[in-house]
Amino acid sequence: MSIKQSGCPACHTSAGIAGAGGRVGPPLTGVGGRSYLAGRISNTPEHMIRWLLDPQSVDSLTAMPATGLTELEARDVAAYLYRPPVTEMLTQPIRHRAAALGGGQRST
Ligand code: HEC
Repeated sequence: MSIKQSGCPACHTSAGIAGAGGRVGPPLTGVGGRSYLAGRISNTPEHMIRWLLDPQSVDSLTAMPATGLTELEARDVAAYLYRPPVTEMLTQPIRHRAAALGGGQRST
């Protein structure tokens, strides 16, 4: 199950996802750099997963429906959303390559 298949692009734009032209929700590009999710909860991985599984438990009036993802899928999606922006990866290849080779404590 990918982000594309799970319907997110219908409502969200996201760099790197073809066809993601949605204008209902906020853009997902750079969501990792925001302080709050949905203006409600602090932006932590746990909160992101909870948001993806059950947005209404965070804000009963939110327009975002439950995604229907399993918890494992929500973890994957959260990891994807928190990846560094593509431009950052292109300008900082060495740090990321070092991280990919293991032992990589992320400095950010
Ligand atoms: C029916 C439209 C719709 C769909 C489908 C949808 N969303 Fe949303 N999403 C929204 C809206 C609207 C908000 C803003 C919610 C709010 O602020 O209450 C939102 C907010 C978010 C946020 C918080 C962003 C922020 O900066 O606060 C994330 C992350 C998110 N959605 C991820 C996803 C993912 C991943 C999917 C697919 C698995 C998805 N959404 C599917 C409408 C949608």
